[in-house]
Parts: sequence; structure tokens; C-alpha cells
Amino acid sequence: MAYKDVYDAWKSDPEGFWMEQAKAIDWVEPPSKALWDDNAPMYEWFADAKVNACYNAVDRHVENGRGEQTAIIYDSPITQTKRQISYLELRNRVANLAGALRAKGIEKGDRVIIYMPMVPEALEAMLACARLGAIHSVVFGGFAAHELAIRIDDAKPKAIIAASCGLEPGRVVHYKPLLDAAIDQATHKPDFCVIFQREQEVAQLVEGRDYNWHGFQYGVEPAECVPVEGNHPAYILYTSGTTGQPKGVVRDTAGHLVALNWTMKNVYNVNPGETFWAASDVGWVVGHSYITYGPLVHGNTTIVFEGKPIGTPDPGTFWRIIEEYKVRSFFTAPTAFRAVKREDPTGEYVKKYDLSNLRTVYLAGERADPDTIKWAQEKLGKPIIDHWWQTELGYPAVANPVGIELLPVKIGSPSVSLPGYAFKIVDDEGKELPRGELGAIVTPLPLPPGTLPTLWNAEDRFKKAYLTNFAGHYETGDAGMIDEDGYLYIMARTDDVINVAGHRLSTGAMEEVLASHPDVAECAVIGVGDDLKGQLPLGFLCLNAGCNREHADIVKDVVTMVRQQIGPVAAFKLATVVDRLPKTRSGKILRATMVKIADNQDFKVPATIDDPTILDEIKVSLQGLGYAKG
Ligand code: COA
Ligand code: AMP
Repeated sequence: MAYKDVYDAWKSDPEGFWMEQAKAIDWVEPPSKALWDDNAPMYEWFADAKVNACYNAVDRHVENGRGEQTAIIYDSPITQTKRQISYLELRNRVANLAGALRAKGIEKGDRVIIYMPMVPEALEAMLACARLGAIHSVVFGGFAAHELAIRIDDAKPKAIIAASCGLEPGRVVHYKPLLDAAIDQATHKPDFCVIFQREQEVAQLVEGRDYNWHGFQYGVEPAECVPVEGNHPAYILYTSGTTGQPKGVVRDTAGHLVALNWTMKNVYNVNPGETFWAASDVGWVVGHSYITYGPLVHGNTTIVFEGKPIGTPDPGTFWRIIEEYKVRSFFTAPTAFRAVKREDPTGEYVKKYDLSNLRTVYLAGERADPDTIKWAQEKLGKPIIDHWWQTELGYPAVANPVGIELLPVKIGSPSVSLPGYAFKIVDDEGKELPRGELGAIVTPLPLPPGTLPTLWNAEDRFKKAYLTNFAGHYETGDAGMIDEDGYLYIMARTDDVINVAGHRLSTGAMEEVLASHPDVAECAVIGVGDDLKGQLPLGFLCLNAGCNREHADIVKDVVTMVRQQIGPVAAFKLATVVDRLPKTRSGKILRATMVKIADNQDFKVPATIDDPTILDEIKVSLQGLGYAKG
């Protein structure tokens, strides 16, 4: 079948389409129907089914003869460790861990926060929760204690599973003190913590609260898979919104299994038994969907890579892994390729490795710039597929459906709507715009299975953020256009979310930190263009009258504060003191105009601006930081 046939099959009968895809999942009780719309616009999928995600990701493969197949490859150039875990071994390890969690009181519906680096135990912790029907919430290791505390207070976990440390090149990330500080800061306290002690650092355990990962499993009964309703939340994953309060994206169990399984062949073009590699982190949605659940549910071998594209030890790491483990499909963020390209522009390291098993490369998480795509096409000699999705959606929404049919690649476009979506471009009033015109990107409701049904404990925020501005549609928060062939082009965010090295960050959260500095009267954070990371945050500070401290000291303070409160992942290193911020007459800070000035883009002085001369002052400040030079 061609893409058009598959897409039309979905369009003419979405219910039939998803019920057909559901056949690939093992149900305890199969769904009687796919879509539940009685409570629209709060849609649900496969709500009357009973299923277990861990069973589908692990046990069923053991029962179906894949027990000896490698489920997880752990490759850590940082610790120089390599390890392989078969499906059988994974089943036993996860059942034991789940048994130990159950013995400590974890039951279906309880939340468990997981704060771990890229080690297989992170996946095992997720799967152990899924086995019990507990709802996990993984927090990325690059977030500091305050961010972890916010998530503890929102998710109210009964337990936290953490590692003693993470390893960044040249630096040990001391997770345990961060965890302790987060629990101190949070109002909610977990009943207990489980600490995975790594060789590189043995953490001090808090008597009566903390248990050693190994010790607490000793002598317990392994747990069986607990059937849950199709609409039972599998996990909560916090993502950046416009404020310092992250959005807790909820993922329901059944839709997630059905949709991920569908994408493994139809988008990523892998067959069960083959190796699939997403070089991301379990703390992000890519890690949930394509390091953990997608490949495992589909019976693939997945890779847990603890390293960086460069420097661990060199820009050939990706190609070494692809050769060594016969990776068929490889997924990473454009920023990783930009880093490799910068160190190996002529592709000398690529030539050292046999990439004959690799079929296709996938890029997502941020805009894939044409230079990077062309470099990768030329050096790797494989199709380079840009595809677009979001934490909210959980899996690709716009892609080249390679496993169905490789459509012509148009550089700069992630290609076409996949089944479940019918993206269109609208103006502020929701009127559909003609092909080629720029506007907000929306898709009609209901969203397909596996997408967010709501935000954790925040249904109103969910409706307001995604369903209110354009009636009957989901608002993506991205702006772009569609060409005459139906290819979508993503141009920018419509909110204050920025994308730094493929990581989604909130400028609002950074502004909250800056504003808490005693000398700062007012501030703004914008994302300025960066050749390596796509964007970098840059802060403007207006100081309180009478403040006579050195500006450089205040800048240093706020850089430290963001690192300590949000975390190193914010990559906040640029700030400058200004007298005034450009605003509209109603007081709205003109952040988008400041971005355009910084990036040397054409811009119109907004008609509503209060005092246009401030823009010149901003330009001079930006020039002092090496921007706005054009
Ligand atoms: N735990 C603790 N700290 C972390 C971390 C983690 N899991 N991940 C990143 N950090 C730290 C980094 O060490 C760095 O700290 P520093 O300021 O002390 O140098 C900081 O956060 C910023 O990290 P990052 O923006 O990733 O930059 P980098 O210089 O470490 O690496 C790249 C640059 C391009 C190589 C890197 O960003 C990369 O590989 N990106 C891939 C992006 C990706 O996988 N995105 C996921 C979506 S698909
Ligand atoms: P996240 O929720 O972290 O996956 O970030 C989602 C956001 O990243 C999207 O809303 C886009 O702004 C951006 N994004 C993801 N993939 C792409 C892509 N292929 N091209 C352009 N932007 C992308």
C-alpha cells in the first residue's frame, strides 16, 4: 500500500483503522471500540480494554520465543562499559524490582518518580512501574533540585527511584544531594526512595527512608503483570510551558501501546528482532517512546547510550555503535549532528565504520537546518528523515512514512501528516489559510490514540493551553505553512518556549529565577540563534534604582542561580543589564522583536510600541554580547 492509501483508510474509517492496529497488542480484555467521545473534548481511547504495558514490552516476547534475544544494549563510552540484557533476563529483573516495590506498598495508580541517568536500570524502573500499574514520572538528570521538587509536589509520588550519580564528560553529577535537597524543598514527601548505587559514587542513604536498589529486592516475590484499564495513565512527563510550572503530560496505557507499535514499522521501518537506536535520554519523550516502550513493545533491540555525540571519545562514536550493534534505524536530534559536523566536517570518522546495516536516519526535537541535512545525506549516503512531534503527542505526527513508502524528501520539511492527524494552517481567528501562507499549526480533534488525554491534575489548563483558541482543534504552539504537495514546514513557536540543543525550555521559568534576584527589578529572557544548539537563552536585566553593584557580578549571580534552580540543561550563560525593556503601551514585553534584532532578521517596529528608541538600546546591548551585528 502507498502512503495515500493508508492515510485515506484512516481518514474514511478512523475507528476501523485503530481497531485494526490494536490487533498487534496483547490484551487481557480486548477493547470493544477504539474512540470514547461521550465526554468530548476529553476523548479517550480503548477505555474498556484491560492491558499491561510491561507484559507487551517484555513478557510476551519471552512467551513468544524471543527470550534469548537482546532487549537492551547498554553502551557507555563514559564508563567504558558494555552490557547486553536479554528479554528473559529483563523479564526477571523487572519482575523482581516490581515485587520489591509492591512489598513496600506500591500499587496500581501510585506515582513513582524516576531520577536516573542513561543506565538500563532506568528502563527497568519504568517497566517495573508499568508492571504494577503504577504511574511513573521520569525527571531528566540535567534538572536541578528545585525542578525536581516542583514535580514531586505536582505528582505526589509514593516513591522515588534514583541513581547515586550521573556522569557527564569530565564531571560526576551528584544525584543524591540533589534528590535530598528536592525532598527537603517539596511539601509532599515520598514514603521511601530506592537508590541505585553506581560504582562511580556510593551515596549516603537516609535511614528509614532510602533503600538500596539491590538490597531491597532480596528475598521478595517477583510481581506478575497487573491488568489496567486502557485509559489508565501509564506515565506523567513534565514538559516546559510558558510559566515556571511545567505541564504534566499524561499518557494513557492502551493508546500509547497501539500507536507506538504502529510507528515502529510504518515510520521507523524496523522489523521485530532488529536493532533500533534513539540517541536521546529517558528524561525526554523520545526516551519514553523510542528508547523504552516503542522498540520493546515491537520486539526490537534498543540501545541505552551513556555518552555524547562528540568527546566520548570522538565524533565517530555514533558510527561505531551503529556498526557494532547493526543498527537499522537511528534517531537523534539535529544538534547532535551539528556537533559531529563541526568536529568532523569531511566525515573522516564516518569512513572508518561499516554502516551497511543502517537503512535510515531520523531527526527531530528541533528544526533540522538544511546544511546539517545535506552534510548527513552526503557523508552517510542514507535517507535523512526530518520528522516532527511533541511531548504532548508522544510519537511522530508529521513524518515521511518510510516503512509504508519513502516519499520524496524535501529539505526543510518534516513531510506529511500521518494517520490520526490532518494538520492545517490557520490565522488568529481560526480561518484556514491558503497553501504557502504562514500561520498557527492545528489539527482537528480528536487527537489519535497515544496522545495526551489531559494534563495531570490540570484539566482546565489542558483545555486552555491546547483546545480553546481554535475551537474543535488541537493547538500545537508551533507556526508554519503547508506547501502545494501537503508538506508541512515548521517555522517557529507561537509561545515563549525555546529549544536549546533539542531540549525544550521555558523562558518564563528562567525569568522567574532572574526576577527573584534582589537587585533585579524587571527582566526578560529570549532565545537567540546559535549555530550548535539552535537557540540559546539570553537574559535582560533591569536593576532596582540605587543598585550600585558591578553589573558583571549580578550577571554572574543570575547565571549561577539558573544553573542551581533549573539545572545545567538550561545552558543559561548570557545576560546583560539594560536600562529599560521594550514594551507595548499595554505593558507586554516585545520578546519576539528582541529575538529578531539579535538574529539580524528583518522586523517591523510594532505599532503598539511604547517607546521605539528602546529598541536601539537593546541592539547596542546585544552587540556587546556578539549578537545583532548585521
Ligand atoms: N545530567 C546532568 N547534566 C546534564 C545532562 C544530564 N543528563 N545532560 C546535559 N547536562 C549538562 C551538560 O553537561 C552541560 O553542562 P555544562 O554547562 O557544565 O557544560 C549542560 O547540561 C548543557 O548541556 P547540552 O545543552 O546538552 O550541551 P553539551 O555541551 O553538554 O552538549 C551537544 C552539546 C550538542 C553534544 C548535546 O547537546 C547533545 O548531544 N544533544 C543531543 C540532544 C538530544 O539528545 N536531545 C533530546 C531530544 S531528541
Ligand atoms: P518536545 O516536546 O520537547 O518534543 O518539543 C516539541 C517542539 O520541538 C515542537 O513543538 C517544535 O517546536 C520543536 N520540534 C520538534 N521536532 C521538530 C522538527 N522536526 N522541526 C522543527 N521543530 C521541531
